[in-house]
Amino acid sequence: MVEAVDSGSKPLLSPDGIRTDGRKIDEMRKVKMEVGLLKNCSGSAYIEQGKTKIIVAVHGPREAHPKHLAQPGRAILRTRYHMAPFSTSDRKSPAPSRREIEITKVIREALEPAVMLDEFPKTSIDVFIEVLQADAGTRSAGITAAALALAEAGIPMRDMVAAVAVGKLEGRVVMDLNEEEDEHGQADMPVAMMPNVNRITLLQLNGRLTRAELEEGLSMARRGVDQLYEMQKQALREKYTSSESAQEED
Ligand code: CDP
Repeated sequence: MVEAVDSGSKPLLSPDGIRTDGRKIDEMRKVKMEVGLLKNCSGSAYIEQGKTKIIVAVHGPREAHPKHLAQPGRAILRTRYHMAPFSTSDRKSPAPSRREIEITKVIREALEPAVMLDEFPKTSIDVFIEVLQADAGTRSAGITAAALALAEAGIPMRDMVAAVAVGKLEGRVVMDLNEEEDEHGQADMPVAMMPNVNRITLLQLNGRLTRAELEEGLSMARRGVDQLYEMQKQALREKYTSSESAQEED
């Protein structure tokens, strides 16, 4: 008996392993990153991953409000993941959805191990993640951009954090799903990692993977995180070299 593959009407992967957007199975979408584009915050970053577009602003460390939330020995890290009303094709209610509340929480948990919160007692560090255009992978691209914005804000970190969603199409493990693949594919697994300490800070799985596929997915995610980490460093380097040359011109 042939196992039915729920992939809509057209196959998501050609027999020679090419996806509907022309990518190979282990190929990430085109990624663009930029830091320091907003002036009224401590740090900011923008990411484009394929058609997914996200901007992140970081405030702090600043005095925690309301005051009763302040912790005597450390800063609190607060996140907010929000989809702009124009970011999806559905009609989106302005109230936070259950999905946004869940993603807000998992993003905070993915970033928290990397941030040296004990250096800033009684303060809060606030991370606002605004999805401008959604085409899957928004929690992972949001984490990558949030870590970049925290670094740009000068907040001491143990390591960067970068994230990518791997998945399964037509029985093959693939890198960085787009929305069509997320919707019609067999599995979606966002993974966030601290690349230097080799620690996973987010792992979610929607769908089914065998143990071997899970392992393959994790090593593919590791390769994706390494590529994203190089781009994060490059985005920070570009910011600092351009601000140094602007100072020299003054
Ligand atoms: O974005 P991410 O993959 O982290 O989360 P998801 O819940 O798996 O959502 C996958 C994609 O579905 C989103 O990135 C959007 O492209 C789309 N989506 C949407 O269009 N409208 C929503 N209310 C929720 C998701």
